[in-house]
Amino acid sequence: GRVIGSTTRKRAGAVLDSGEIEGIVTDYVHGRIPDYQMAAWLATVACRGLSTAELAALTRAHTIGGGRLDLSRVDGPVVDKHSTGGVGDTTTLIVVPVVAACGVPVAKMTGRALGFTGGTLDKLESIKGLRTTIPIEEIVPTLTSVGMVLTGQSADLTPGDGATYALRDVTGTVESIPLIAASIISKKSAVGADGLVLDVKTGAGALITEQDRATELVRTMLGLAAEFGLNARAVLSDMSQPLGPAVGNALEIRQALAVLRGERVPGLWDLCAAVCRLMLQSVDAALTDKQAMARIDRVLDEGTAYETFVRWAVAQGADAAALEAERLPSAGRRLTITAPESGWVTAIEPRSVGNASLLLGAGRLTYDAPLDHGAGVLLRRRVGDRVDQGDVLAELCYDGGDVAAARSLVESAFRLGDTAVDAPATVQRVFE
Ligand code: URA
Repeated sequence: GRVIGSTTRKRAGAVLDSGEIEGIVTDYVHGRIPDYQMAAWLATVACRGLSTAELAALTRAHTIGGGRLDLSRVDGPVVDKHSTGGVGDTTTLIVVPVVAACGVPVAKMTGRALGFTGGTLDKLESIKGLRTTIPIEEIVPTLTSVGMVLTGQSADLTPGDGATYALRDVTGTVESIPLIAASIISKKSAVGADGLVLDVKTGAGALITEQDRATELVRTMLGLAAEFGLNARAVLSDMSQPLGPAVGNALEIRQALAVLRGERVPGLWDLCAAVCRLMLQSVDAALTDKQAMARIDRVLDEGTAYETFVRWAVAQGADAAALEAERLPSAGRRLTITAPESGWVTAIEPRSVGNASLLLGAGRLTYDAPLDHGAGVLLRRRVGDRVDQGDVLAELCYDGGDVAAARSLVESAFRLGDTAVDAPATVQRVFE
């Protein structure tokens, strides 16, 4: 009955004490609270918000019963990053190997898709044989041998986040500043890296869309990070259109590999470059922007970033050949969406594109729905591009799913106008 009472009091505006919050999360982790009661509690928290003390308690509660990494056994500082999620946000798959190739090890826990946004863990499952969640004991050896680790939000480290994350995804409780902050900072605190970069999205395809509330999320997370002893920097980045051209699991893996081979995709690369720079500077404050960019450009141009990704995938169980484009899952069917008239692309509504990808099979509508890793959407134009009637705007890649609905979502996502517009800068603001 504790969770029911807590929900009722929270709804009435009470402040919950930390023992109560920790007890509820722990009970849920151990199956002592049914999903529907926990969903009601989370929804009430999402509506009512949390005080600073409640937020710290929830963050701590996520880690109860989990282990902590001992990164002191790794030579030199280790860095970490996290994004609040978006559409076509392939950043992790690019920045982690780039920074590792620059000689700074990266340890990162990743999650599954939430709502219309993609999840790195789901994307990684496109790679045959890759163990997407590795046991804690393997993290330090893998970091030492290949310089990077990407692993699922293993129940070993943050049991509370692991249990509530999937429930939030299917109960409309993703888009909440305190729930996002507690989810992310709990994982970052369990990893305990020496430097951390938070990529907070703003715009229609962000979990928190309005710029002022997204800025509040940045400040909430930076405050919480400081409380947990983390050395964090942040970037506020544009998600008013999908970040990169590929939306969907294997499609985004291919996109990331192309960038790692040196293709500096506009928009996507601008953000990756800023995040990489901040990650390097988070553990080397004397490094100038210019020096950081020179190191980043070198590992791309010399191919060591790409090689790092391949060595990492092999270390986590994949066969190097599984990364070849033709061995990644690929949808059998394609449908092109063309421009109904000539003009300039004035907007590409990211939620519609994310939902279209989901409906084609790349995301989930229920808890344990299987994914079609080859499915998704490829965008052929960005905001600001000039198009002529009949030009290809996007392609749907699928083998099943609700193609008619996905098609009308992507058609309606593209807005065309008579005059050119400038897309907002990908990197809107840096908090160093
Ligand atoms: N990413 C997370 O890890 N958690 C959230 O709640 C949102 C984005």
